[in-house]
Amino acid sequence: MSIQIEHLSYAYRLPSGEKVEALKEITCTIATGDFVGIMGPTGSGKTTLLQLIAGLRRPTGGRIRLNGKDINAHGYNRNLLRQMVGVVFQEPENQLFATTVEKDVAFGLKYSGLSRPEITARVQWALETMGFDFEKIRNQSPLALSGGEKRRVAIAGVLATKPQILLFDEPIAGLDPYSRQHFLHFVTKINQAGTTIIMVSHNMEALAEYTRHLLVLAQGRLIDSGPTREVFIRLKQKHSGAFGQTEAQKITTLLAKNKLVLPAAVVTYDDLLSALKQELAGGGPG
Ligand SMILES: Nc1ncnc2c1ncn2[C@@H]1O[C@H](COP(=O)(O)OP(=O)(O)OP(=O)(O)O)[C@@H](O)[C@H]1O
Ligand SMILES: [Mg+2]
Repeated sequence: MSIQIEHLSYAYRLPSGEKVEALKEITCTIATGDFVGIMGPTGSGKTTLLQLIAGLRRPTGGRIRLNGKDINAHGYNRNLLRQMVGVVFQEPENQLFATTVEKDVAFGLKYSGLSRPEITARVQWALETMGFDFEKIRNQSPLALSGGEKRRVAIAGVLATKPQILLFDEPIAGLDPYSRQHFLHFVTKINQAGTTIIMVSHNMEALAEYTRHLLVLAQGRLIDSGPTREVFIRLKQKHSGAFGQTEAQKITTLLAKNKLVLPAAVVTYDDLLSALKQELAGGGPG
């Protein structure tokens, strides 16, 4: 289920008739089973890109192909698209509405053609994948859960439909460190089971540690893309400011200013720790 994005553009039209160009000529390929991060300043077009991939908006220019087929072509099966691509929007917990967790997670399976026992099994699987004890949680009211738990229930609802591609818009924003860790752990598991993950995030550490490829947007343009580590290293070389840098990279810069020069390849905290250990053990430049 590869995703080919070709010269993709999107312009919003304001009520005044004025156009807002949110995406300009984006071209890239996302391979089946990849874990892709999307980073970029606010307003750079990240959410718009996810909406286009999910088929919720039609491009004003260019194409998106899933396995070679243009998803906006006449006659393309939109139901199939909906089955293949799952989207978890920002703060999905605000969309919980059913009286029990089980009903909420089962909602997306209503027209799936699955039998009742099959639906129950699927809901159980999705909730367990998100780290819940099914019997304990199934009859609880979603409203009685903590913020992090609500979000995991909301994600289970999308997961239950077994999409081959999962899109997340800032899924860890506003989560406490424990819930964040939890979420990234489960997403990694889902990815290892074969689901393609595309995750928009402002959290550089999460992008650096969990994604394999990165797309970098700025003002609607794709300004860089490639293997995550390489992109972080390039961004640091290209932009002297703090844009797109991990804390470990910022600390490395600070150390260099104070004459402790670590390898340029420091991206994550783990890199920083081992580089520091090596440097301190070896005496380093002084
Ligand atoms: N419904 C809309 N109508 C008009 N313009 C819009 C609409 N939604 C977004 N835009 C504009 O399109 C551009 C891209 O917006 P988008 O929401 O995709 O950015 P983003 O990268 O997701 O930002 P953020 O990090 O703040 O979520 C921005 O200039 C924004 O103002
Ligand atoms: Mg957004």
